[in-house]
Amino acid sequence: MLVNAKEMILKAKAGKYAIAQININNLEWTKAALETVQELNSPVILGVTSGAAKWMGGWNAVVGMVNGLMKDLKITVPVALHLDHGGAIEICKEAIDAGFTSVMYDGSHDSIEKNVEDTRTVVEYAAKANVSVEAEVGTVGGTEDGVTGGVNYASLDECVSIAETGIDFLAASLGSVHGNYVGEPKLGFKEMVQYSKKTDLPLVLHGGSGIPDDMIKKAISSGQSKINVNTEVQQAFSAGIRKYIEEEKDQSGTGYDPRKVIGTYAYNNMKEVIKRKIELFGSIDKA
Ligand code: 13P
Repeated sequence: MLVNAKEMILKAKAGKYAIAQININNLEWTKAALETVQELNSPVILGVTSGAAKWMGGWNAVVGMVNGLMKDLKITVPVALHLDHGGAIEICKEAIDAGFTSVMYDGSHDSIEKNVEDTRTVVEYAAKANVSVEAEVGTVGGTEDGVTGGVNYASLDECVSIAETGIDFLAASLGSVHGNYVGEPKLGFKEMVQYSKKTDLPLVLHGGSGIPDDMIKKAISSGQSKINVNTEVQQAFSAGIRKYIEEEKDQSGTGYDPRKVIGTYAYNNMKEVIKRKIELFGSIDKA
């Protein structure tokens, strides 16, 4: 059964580790993530952007697919299905109505006053369905799902204002970017400690791909309890497909069978990355 993400994240905060949000893009992605977390006895959050939901057919298709895989693969670890960067109240409502158990309302493109007001509306709606809510202040840089932005560091005042809406966890942007980093990430560790203390909320680190391991560990000890990973799994997938095609495996026998095209390298590559992240974040055996 899918769960609200609040409890697993609060446990992570108390235990000084982080829960991985693994973004999913299709059935193979979802299956790779679920199999890996079950093997590692780790909780997980499956992240879905609006674009990814559209690609997979829609909100109901995603919920049906995830629930079906959970049942057929006999998944017993806690799994939350989370809307990533819901850019409008209506989008959050659609995901909640379809059966998502966690949503992010991203009002970071608006003024802080409007962000607070809209986040509060989402919190009220989500509470009725026992759905956890994440909000964002400041802006994550880089590009995700065709949306590009510059880095804007969140301020303490913004964090305090948004925390008062009753959200469960907070994405306070402090230098991370979606996609590839140019040079070393410049993360605001001092601010992480300060903001998490002041708001008493678990923090969420977006742009979890490409951050050196020591910085991830420092971010966790500075208050980050949920770390989002998308790009590195995408890269592992496409590298696997490229290797398969470059070796011309699709040209021999029934090598064109999609189960072979994806299953030979790409699938295991994804599992490897997810496993490495979960080890690094410290959530093995925390189910
Ligand atoms: P990356 O694509 O950089 O891993 O970031 C993922 C993310 O933050 C999803 O919201």
